[in-house]
Parts: sequence; structure tokens; C-alpha cells
Amino acid sequence: MTPPQWPGRVGVVGCGVMGTGIAELCAVRGLDVVVHGRRETSADAARERLAGSLDRGVRKGRMTETDRKEALSRITFTTDLGAFHDCRIVVECVPEQEPLKREIFTALDRIVTDDDAVLASVTSSIPITRLARATARPAKVIGTHLFNPAPTMPLAELIPTLLTDDETIRRAEEFLGDALGKQVIRAPDRAGFLVNTLLVPYLLSAVRMVETGAASAADIDRAMTGGCGHPMGPLALIDLIGLDVIAEVANSLYEEYKEPLHAPPPLLSRMVEAGLLGKKTGTGFHTYRK
Ligand SMILES: NC(=O)c1ccc[n+]([C@@H]2O[C@H](COP(=O)([O-])OP(=O)(O)OC[C@H]3O[C@@H](n4cnc5c(N)ncnc54)[C@H](O)[C@@H]3O)[C@@H](O)[C@H]2O)c1
Repeated sequence: MTPPQWPGRVGVVGCGVMGTGIAELCAVRGLDVVVHGRRETSADAARERLAGSLDRGVRKGRMTETDRKEALSRITFTTDLGAFHDCRIVVECVPEQEPLKREIFTALDRIVTDDDAVLASVTSSIPITRLARATARPAKVIGTHLFNPAPTMPLAELIPTLLTDDETIRRAEEFLGDALGKQVIRAPDRAGFLVNTLLVPYLLSAVRMVETGAASAADIDRAMTGGCGHPMGPLALIDLIGLDVIAEVANSLYEEYKEPLHAPPPLLSRMVEAGLLGKKTGTGFHTYRK
């Protein structure tokens, strides 16, 4: 077990796919973490998912039963954002909607007492400056874009803004690199940063191919795994990320660059409106067993 390398508690706002994954990663790496869910029921569901994931870790020999118990003991769930008052870093993981994220940052600014605490966002695409400006301490706000599944994906994008101070950059880099064990790259504070600026137009092109009937989802995915050696086809990847997340990311990119290739295809919008969000709801471009 890696000894704790981050002084103080980590706060995670939001207990969906990314919030739960980041909380699990923190706990497995020996950090104390408090996770905020809006309701008791969502916190209970997140606790169950997280425990299930740690169980799989034991079954697959990635950790011992003692490691699993220790990791679980480091995670606290709360429905009260006030519990974050003493955190040294808070990672915001709520849905990809700018007004909602800005609300959370304004609240964190009021709640977190340590003036040097890092206020981070895992946003996939929203420029960090806009979130920083929702606080009275923009120098302490930074993007920490981890990938899904957070416990296993090796990369993290670190996104300072024009306003982020050097100490915050240093602490956030230490958190991602030393404490969480990620490979850290610096990315520019523009919608989509580095990875999603490259990835999302490709994913949207695959949706357009399904939409126009050019090819089936299964064939497109087979083409890119078998023909290009990608570990996963684009439509399976959209299902994993969440169709709602991809649609919101496409909107952010379109708003920033006004490129038609970033506009969400109608099929994607209709599927989101229909609640077909991918793996998390059981159906997206493919169907999944619950
Ligand atoms: N899914 C991915 O593959 C992925 C990868 C990297 C980054 N991200 C980013 O991570 C963030 C979260 O995405 P996700 O996939 O975990 O979404 P998700 O829908 O799985 O989870 C979002 C969580 O936020 C909670 N929530 C909603 N409103 C809230 C509020 N007002 N206060 C507190 N919690 C609230 C929801 O109940 C849910 O538990 C987004 O910004 C997304 O762009 C997602």
C-alpha cells in the first residue's frame, strides 16, 4: 500500500462515474476522502458501486482483503457540502453543465477555510477560467482532468488558467502525480483541453455514420479495434463515457470554436433526451447487462 503523500483530506463533489472512481483511487492510494452526494440514496448507491469495484480488485488479485478494508475505511460519504471545510483539495465532479459547476465553486469558496486549498474541476471541456471567476480566489482554481475509469487510466491533464498561482499548480501536480500516481501533462485552458479537442470530433463522426446509415455501430467499433488497434471502438467509448457527457462536451466545443464538426448530431441529442445514456443506463449504441 502506498503511504499517504497528500497532507489533509480530499473532498470530492458528485458521486457519479468520475466522483466514485476518483474517491476509490484516493482511498486505495492511502488518502482520506470525503464524497458529497446530493441525497442519501445516491450516496448509498455510490458506496455500493465503490465497494463492488474494490471487491473485484480483491478477486483479480490487485489488492488484499486488508487493503480493501483499509481503503473503505478512508472514505466518508456526506450530503452536506459543509463537511469540506477542512479539505486541502476539493475535486468537483458534477455533471458537465457550466451554471451548475459555477454554483458549486461559489459554494466551495464560502465553505473551504484553508485559503491555500486547491479548488479543482474534473470537467471534460468547460474552460477553467469561467469556473475560477465564480469564486473570490481564482488563483486557487485549476483543472484536473482525470479519465474514466479513474482508478486505472494512467493520464491526467493539468489545466492552469491565466490566473492560477504557482503554488496551486505545484500542489495540484503533486496531487495528481505523486499522490494519485498519474502521468501528468499540462493542457491549455480552451474548451476540450488537449485530449477531448482531438477525441470528440472523431466520436461525433462515428455517430454521424450510424445516423446516416453508412454503417452499424458494431461494424464501426470492429473497424477501429481490428483495423486501427484501438482498445475500444468509438461508439463503445461513447457508451462508457456517457452520451449525456459527450453531448455536453460537444456543445462546449461548438460554443468555443463554432466548427460544424463539433455540433452534437441530432441522433446523439435524441438518445440523450430518451435517457439512453450508455453503460450507466444499460443502453446506448450497444446494450449492457445491469
Ligand atoms: N464519464 C466520463 O468518462 C468522464 C471522464 C472525464 C471527466 N468527466 C467529467 O466528470 C464530470 C462528472 O461526470 P460523470 O460522468 O461522473 O457524471 P455522472 O452523471 O455519472 O455523475 C454526476 C454526479 O453529480 C451529481 N450531481 C448532480 N447535481 C449535483 C449537485 N447540484 N450537487 C452535487 N452533486 C450533483 C449526480 O447526482 C451524479 O452523482 C463531468 O464534468 C464530466 O465531463 C467525465
